[in-house]
This record gives sequence, C-alpha cells and structure tokens, in this order.
Amino acid sequence: HPVIFLDEVDSTNNYAKTLGASNAQNGTAVVAARQTAGKGRLARKFESPEGCGVYLSIFLRPKLQVSDINCITLMTAVVVADTVEELCGLRPTIKWTNDVYLNGKKLCGILTECSIEGESGAVEYAVVGIGTNLGQTSVDFPEEIRNIATSVFQETGVRIAQADYAAALLKNFERYFYEQHFPENKASFLGQYRKDLFFLGQEVTVVGMTGQYTAVAMDIDEEGRLLVRTEDGRTKALNSGEISIR
Ligand code: BTN
Repeated sequence: HPVIFLDEVDSTNNYAKTLGASNAQNGTAVVAARQTAGKGRLARKFESPEGCGVYLSIFLRPKLQVSDINCITLMTAVVVADTVEELCGLRPTIKWTNDVYLNGKKLCGILTECSIEGESGAVEYAVVGIGTNLGQTSVDFPEEIRNIATSVFQETGVRIAQADYAAALLKNFERYFYEQHFPENKASFLGQYRKDLFFLGQEVTVVGMTGQYTAVAMDIDEEGRLLVRTEDGRTKALNSGEISIR
C-alpha cells in the first residue's frame, strides 16, 4: 500500500480524511515527522514533537458498517502491542478502548474517525490514527502529563528508529486487517486483546456524561464493548466513554 510522508501537518488524521474525496487506494498510510495539532479522543491534544514519535494514519475504504469501527480501534491496540513487543522485547498492556501502556504509563493513543454514508450506516471511509512515543525522555513531555505519559526509550532504554517502527506497524496492521479478513472475522484479535487488557476482573470507576459509578470489568464482547457488573448485580455493555481505574 502507498505511504505518504510529510514533514509537518496539523494532524495526519485530518490529512487522511481529505483522501476520502480522492480516489486514494484503500490502505494508504500517512506519516508525519511532526504534527502541529495532533488530536486525541474527547477533543484532547496529542503532543507530537519531531524526532520522538511516530504519527501515522491509515486510510481505509473497505465495506464496513459503523458497528465495525469500534473493533478496528481495539484491533489496532493489539497491532501496536505486537509491534512494540517485537521491537523492544517488552509487551505493553491495553486500557480499553484505545490506549496502550508500558509499565502503567501511556505510550500510544489511537483515534479512529469515519465518514458515514447517509442513513444506511455504511462507512464511506475510515481513518485510523496511531501516535506512539518512541524516544522521549521524561523532560520532553509537558509537565502536566509527565507522570502519566512515557516512551519506549524511557521504559526500556531501547531506541527504535521511526522508520522501523512505522514499517513493522503497517505490516502487523495488514496481518490483522487483511489476512484475517476484517470485518468477517472481526473478533479474531479478541483473544489477544483480552490477555493484554489490564483491568479485567478489577473494580473500575466508570466515568460517563451523566456521572460516575463503580463496577467490576468482566469482559469484552464481540462488538468490542466492555461488559461491567454494577454494584446491584446488573451487567452493562459500555460502548465508549471514559474509564478510570481506582
Ligand atoms: C488519544 O490518545 O486519545 C488518541 C491519540 C491519537 C494520536 C494520533 S497521532 C496520529 C493521528 N493524528 C492525530 O491527530 N491523532 C492521531
């Protein structure tokens, strides 16, 4: 698949979305050396300095339904965990839905965006954005995220070249997405995802739009939802929203 390299862009996700209006090939990747407005979920900023990380978006135009999008994000977290383990020897853990952690600190964030066709619920195209911290030392992070963010170098002392990481990441993405036939086999990565999740069986605080409550994280279902058991014994399937761990 083609790869587009950019020195600087506001956000590789924004750039990849503009490919939606062109006849860009399914699977085209956009990689930038730095982003001036890297974005995370919930309108957060994703720090994207040059030389430290890999900021990459994959443009996808297969036949997908909106309900598949959640699973692509989860699948990509496993792809990242495989890639990091392959290149530095330490396997990250995953925080549902889309964050990848190393030694309890965030190493990588994933942001999937899509454009939906009319009322059919069919996806015109999707963009999977992956930002991974490779080379930062603690002082390279802004002070407010210094004790929650980390990099491969900070945790393992291993220096992974950006090009090596991007190439391995794209190869692993292809392995899961095309070789395992997403979305027909969209649950094929779930076994590994469950193993990598760091809070199954534990008490979590579910923080939503309308407040928060305590529950036990039980499992991930085939649609990528987190199943929790609330204090009154009911099971709830959570689609998204923020989860914080106590
Ligand atoms: C998150 O932490 O909530 C998700 C972060 C996603 C960051 C990546 S970097 C490449 C792509 N371009 C963006 O603007 N965001 C994603």
